[in-house]
Amino acid sequence: MLMNIKRWKSFNKERVPGYSTRGEKVKADEVPRHVAIIMDGNGRWAKKRHLPRVAGHHEGMKTIRKITRVANELGIKVLTLYAFSTENWKRPKAEVDYLMKLPEEFLSTYLPELKEQNVKVQMMGHKEQIPLHTQRAINKAIRETEGNNGLILNFALNYGSRDEIMRAVKNILNDVKNGIMDENELTEEVFHRYLMTNGLQDPDLLIRTSGEIRLSNFMLWQLAYTEFVFTDVLWPDFNEEHFLDAIEEYQKRSRRFGGLKSEEQTR
Ligand code: FPP
Repeated sequence: MLMNIKRWKSFNKERVPGYSTRGEKVKADEVPRHVAIIMDGNGRWAKKRHLPRVAGHHEGMKTIRKITRVANELGIKVLTLYAFSTENWKRPKAEVDYLMKLPEEFLSTYLPELKEQNVKVQMMGHKEQIPLHTQRAINKAIRETEGNNGLILNFALNYGSRDEIMRAVKNILNDVKNGIMDENELTEEVFHRYLMTNGLQDPDLLIRTSGEIRLSNFMLWQLAYTEFVFTDVLWPDFNEEHFLDAIEEYQKRSRRFGGLKSEEQTR
């Protein structure tokens, strides 16, 4: 079935000139359930304009608003955004401080519309190292949207996949030691429950912007069977059209999860 969502089209005409024909290429019944994005290229975007790097991050924040909206309209269930990695603390303090202020700015500006759109805000990563003002803004958004059942907007903030896996292993060892878990019960499914994505399905689609082709310690366990789309577009320039291009690309892929396509089974 080709996409023909009236609401979506009117939204698009408003925001993306010439979009109305483009939307029909995306198949509504094959939309990925979970999309994860490595938002990259903010610094280069700013540099090209002779602006400070933080100007790129600020512009990148506006892209989050656009993509959240379109993802929700398309019926995507989860959008996970890599906003700050456990390695990003190595950046100059002024940049880190700025990045830590952005969730607050984003949420104070856009929380009302996220609520209106039925979006549920979540976060994965270690909150305790994040400044209190950032924690408060995020906790407030989580609290005020916890009853929503539209798109889950999952911010990966102070997140690192190796750290996540190491902590999961340590917690499992502890639970085995304390008799909370029998080691024979450890399956992939149980392991997943010890990860920060507990309760979320694995991403169907990963998008990385800015032309870099690597995972940068992002969701290493969860991306085992995910389709990857890499684009040269810098995150602040990434828009609804680019997002739909990525979905369209995803829909052309043949996902086999290590098996065969059903028609090949019989040959
Ligand atoms: C990578 O670009 C981007 C980041 C490390 C930060 C991403 C953050 C945002 C888009 C805004 C966050 C806002 C909220 C609301 C959480 P880069 O700086 O590495 O770019 P470069 O590779 O071109 O230097």
